[in-house]
Amino acid sequence: MYPSFGSVLLLTAHVAHAFVQGDCIKHDAALTILASQLSPGAAISCQYFPLQEHTAGRYWGEQYSKNSAVVVFPITKIDVSHAVRAAASSRFGWDLAFVGGGHGQTNASSSSGFLIDLSWMNSTKVLHNIKLGDTKVSIAVAYQGGALWKHVADNTNGTGFTAVGARVGEVGVGGFSTGGGIGFLAGAYGYAIDRLRAVEVVLMSGEIVLATKTNRYSDLFWAIQGGGGQFGIVTTFYQEAVPEPTSSEFGIWVVAKDSWDRARQNTVEFFETNDDPFSLMYYSLGYYPEYVTTGNLTTVMVIVGLRFGNSHGMSSKMSKQRSFNSTFSNLLDGLVLKQASKYNVPYGQATELSTPFFPYGFRRGFWGPQISMVTKPYITAASNRMEAYINQSLDRGDVPHSAVWVLQYMYPGQNGHGPVSDSATAWPHAQTAHQTLFSPAWKSASNDGFVVQQNDALNKITHDHQASFGTFVADYPNYISPKADGYRVWGHNVKRLIKIKAKYDPECRIHQGRVFASDTCIAHGWANIYPRKGYSVADHD
Ligand SMILES: Cc1cc2nc3c(=O)[nH]c(=O)nc-3n(C[C@H](O)[C@H](O)[C@H](O)COP(=O)(O)OP(=O)(O)OC[C@H]3O[C@@H](n4cnc5c(N)ncnc54)[C@H](O)[C@@H]3O)c2cc1C
Ligand SMILES: *[C@@H]1O[C@H](CO)[C@@H](O)[C@H](O)[C@H]1NC(C)=O
Ligand SMILES: *[C@@H]1O[C@H](CO)[C@@H](O)[C@H](O)[C@H]1NC(C)=O
Ligand SMILES: *[C@@H]1O[C@H](CO)[C@@H](O)[C@H](O)[C@H]1NC(C)=O
Ligand SMILES: *[C@@H]1O[C@H](CO)[C@@H](O)[C@H](O)[C@H]1NC(C)=O
Ligand SMILES: *[C@@H]1O[C@H](CO)[C@@H](O)[C@H](O)[C@H]1NC(C)=O
Ligand SMILES: *[C@@H]1O[C@H](CO)[C@@H](O)[C@H](O)[C@H]1NC(C)=O
Repeated sequence: MYPSFGSVLLLTAHVAHAFVQGDCIKHDAALTILASQLSPGAAISCQYFPLQEHTAGRYWGEQYSKNSAVVVFPITKIDVSHAVRAAASSRFGWDLAFVGGGHGQTNASSSSGFLIDLSWMNSTKVLHNIKLGDTKVSIAVAYQGGALWKHVADNTNGTGFTAVGARVGEVGVGGFSTGGGIGFLAGAYGYAIDRLRAVEVVLMSGEIVLATKTNRYSDLFWAIQGGGGQFGIVTTFYQEAVPEPTSSEFGIWVVAKDSWDRARQNTVEFFETNDDPFSLMYYSLGYYPEYVTTGNLTTVMVIVGLRFGNSHGMSSKMSKQRSFNSTFSNLLDGLVLKQASKYNVPYGQATELSTPFFPYGFRRGFWGPQISMVTKPYITAASNRMEAYINQSLDRGDVPHSAVWVLQYMYPGQNGHGPVSDSATAWPHAQTAHQTLFSPAWKSASNDGFVVQQNDALNKITHDHQASFGTFVADYPNYISPKADGYRVWGHNVKRLIKIKAKYDPECRIHQGRVFASDTCIAHGWANIYPRKGYSVADHD
């Protein structure tokens, strides 16, 4: 559709509103026109200029940062629409991507060509009694598509309301909210995708639409509930707010090796008996300094207990919440601890406590299936496998610093906020499941294949254990493994996702990372998510 008559006039007039760094726009009519269309305050930066280099450097996993020819920084949804249209005729647009927080692990948010960096669209508002198309929401947290969770937390802190967000503040809202969204409060109030009420989306046609569960874009809304960022660019998410916890208590316990066995038993008991949706725990084995912040690097078991104060009394089945000590006394019973730390912070600062555990500067993975029930032999098998990975990684001369395997507790049925069925949202998650997370860390690209192999071995332990219960539990989209096929993550919903992909992105312009197999995506060789034929529960690998 470019250049249109009006655009040609603008081109001749050379009215560049946006801030431009570099010459790459000169011989690219689409970019020259775009520079005149963007708001003052938006920017375009060519390769090796400061803004482009800043973007290339902000990916959490080093291997996911491709060096794009040009980066566009929109500040409004109309800017995003112009950028999407410009990419269709720019010479760099064959390789299009858009990035939110840069924490994705599928290579989807970087490109060598045309990149849209959403990070300048990062505002958050708490809105009361709003009407979103056909949907009314009494209190919503509206966050723009390029915000990070720490930005949302800064804005909601002290308002009495918050959203279900990531547990590490640097994570982007964009990938998180389209790929599931498991936060500290997910067990009490549901995942982010279950709490979305509307999304404002820039389609690949450049059209800007508002999608809700019940309007004419309900298929798009459904796809965004766990199908990821392949259908359009979400410029604003509207999540139904939850009450802001009155306190956030964290216990971080380093367990002495002699107590590892007991700690696994206590973990199983916590999973079986916890009855407070606002309390949860993480079991982890990783390669950290001996006392987490000081000491020599070694294999460390860390148990984290979290309790969020719920004096609002909303949605909780309990009349009175037990204290932190009483909640975790059985978990700690009989354990020799090398270190015990206790924090009590405002909820708006809770994500800061997790940030040091996930440093930048490494090649990284963030992968893992889910499990509906844990047993001690299961935790032991996975932990031994993790230890073996650390040992082998060191033997290979690599640096697995901050590599970790985590088992994350989830409250049954998300306290009544889970979906009614597996087909209610793109990502099937009607059955309660706990998350497992393998996050290797390494320096040498020659070990890329090695860590994927280690991930396969860990996944096999979890998938085999789940299969022993006879029920299928989908992998978590935001922790998608390199080799996971479509069925593993989206179950029977893959076919419908492929249709919606074809409808909203008919030219398959969004084709980095994991791509649903529409005919056009297949024809170009970009597709890699297909429905699985003849699947049965017994095929669990
Ligand atoms: C250290 C760390 C901690 C994490 N913690 C959690 C956690 O607590 N809970 C949890 O559920 N997950 C967690 N994750 C997983 C995380 O949610 C995913 O990696 C997610 O994809 C990151 O989103 P992003 O915007 O930062 O990533 P990006 O790499 O920017 O984007 C990832 C994908 O989302 C797309 N996307 C980005 N923005 C938008 C948008 N506005 N509209 C449409 N698509 C978009 C991108 O194009 C890409 O396909 C964590 C990951 C890491 C590395
Ligand atoms: C990401 O893409 C780059 C460039 O195409 C490639 O070198 C790298 O191996 C990819 N990484 C992954 C994890 O697929
Ligand atoms: C947030 O957006 C504003 C402008 O919209 C920008 O100046 C600022 O740098 C952004 N913050 C981050 C962390 O990118
Ligand atoms: C968050 O709010 C609390 C009070 O509720 C306040 O003490 C704290 O300083 C605030 N933190 C930030 C980062 O604004
Ligand atoms: C760290 O390791 C070195 C070398 O093995 C040792 O000399 C030192 O005592 C260790 N430090 C601590 C704090 O354990
Ligand atoms: C909780 O337990 C810790 C460690 O055992 C103890 O120091 C603290 O006094 C206890 N707090 C309360 C309120 O009982
Ligand atoms: C890993 O190495 C440590 C230290 O040498 C050893 O104690 C442990 O048994 C090894 N674990 C595995 C699973 O290989």
